[in-house]
Amino acid sequence: MIVTTAELFSVAYGQFAVGAYNINNMEQALGLFQGHVRAQAPFIIQISKGARKYAGVMMLEAILRACDATFPEAIYAVHLDHGDEQTCYECIASGFYSSVMIDASHEPFEHNAAVTRRVVERAHARGVSVESELGLLGGVEEHVNVDQKHARLTDPDEAQAFVAQSGCDSLAVAIGTSHGAYKFTGNQSLHLERIAEIQKRLPGFPLVMHGSSSVPKGEVERINAAGGKLDPSARGVDEAEFARAVPLGVAKVNIDTDGRLVWTRVHREHFRDHPENFDFRKPGEALIKAYADFIVQKSKALLSAGRLPHVRAALTVKSGP
Ligand code: G3H
Ligand code: 13P
Ligand code: ZN
Repeated sequence: MIVTTAELFSVAYGQFAVGAYNINNMEQALGLFQGHVRAQAPFIIQISKGARKYAGVMMLEAILRACDATFPEAIYAVHLDHGDEQTCYECIASGFYSSVMIDASHEPFEHNAAVTRRVVERAHARGVSVESELGLLGGVEEHVNVDQKHARLTDPDEAQAFVAQSGCDSLAVAIGTSHGAYKFTGNQSLHLERIAEIQKRLPGFPLVMHGSSSVPKGEVERINAAGGKLDPSARGVDEAEFARAVPLGVAKVNIDTDGRLVWTRVHREHFRDHPENFDFRKPGEALIKAYADFIVQKSKALLSAGRLPHVRAALTVKSGP
């Protein structure tokens, strides 16, 4: 059943983080639902502008409606990832989305707060909640390429002022992560002390961690052993840090790259081991299974596994999809 993101956060805050995964096609969606039902974990489905363009808005909605009917036990919200103002308005008007992200973090504070405020006004009128971002993550996003040296951690005082001024419902904070497979060098890791400072200024307010894939070394090695050419020094977020971030107010953790690595590993190994195959359902079946296993393991790290009965009791159903 589809629920509002705000409701999910109200149950999750301080207890567990809701995993937010980007979806582009049917196989990913089936693995995502199967894995979460098996893990008994609530989740957030993220749809990026790129996904809307790739699969088409109607196709993605149809896939999710079919999953909703196939997996009646699942509890999830549907979220626009890294939206611009216009795409936020389209998603709010569609009635299909539980929440939207307006990403104007590359703009100056005042501009970012003003755009967010406009989106909040339209979203709240339709019962949709809004995630905004303050600070600059490193790495590559769909519409903006942020060099590591220009990445900027979120300032706690600015975060407090931004939430008051913009009226957003959750805030993506820059605390050392970046998008993609190459996040950290040397002994860099998450700035948990910065999250703690932000939480002090915004007690009870849900924080969001983008760029949270862990880029498992074993996965990179398997991809390269099957013909891939990923940089073996690729490194992501240590999954053990999720449990430390949860009490500090991190309620949503965005993961996309790790799912792409699962896709790449499954397909490379399949065609290496079965060069005679040309039936796309064979790697498709392997992907659904591997993706579901990946979700079960992530849900444990996010502390969201086993929470469904409690979440179901606490939530009301949003109409749709
Ligand atoms: O942060 C962005 C996500 O990884 C989505 O990627 O925009 O290529 O769909 P995408
Ligand atoms: P990763 O690239 O670490 O998976 O981050 C995904 C993300 O932040 C989507 O918004
Ligand atoms: Zn992101």
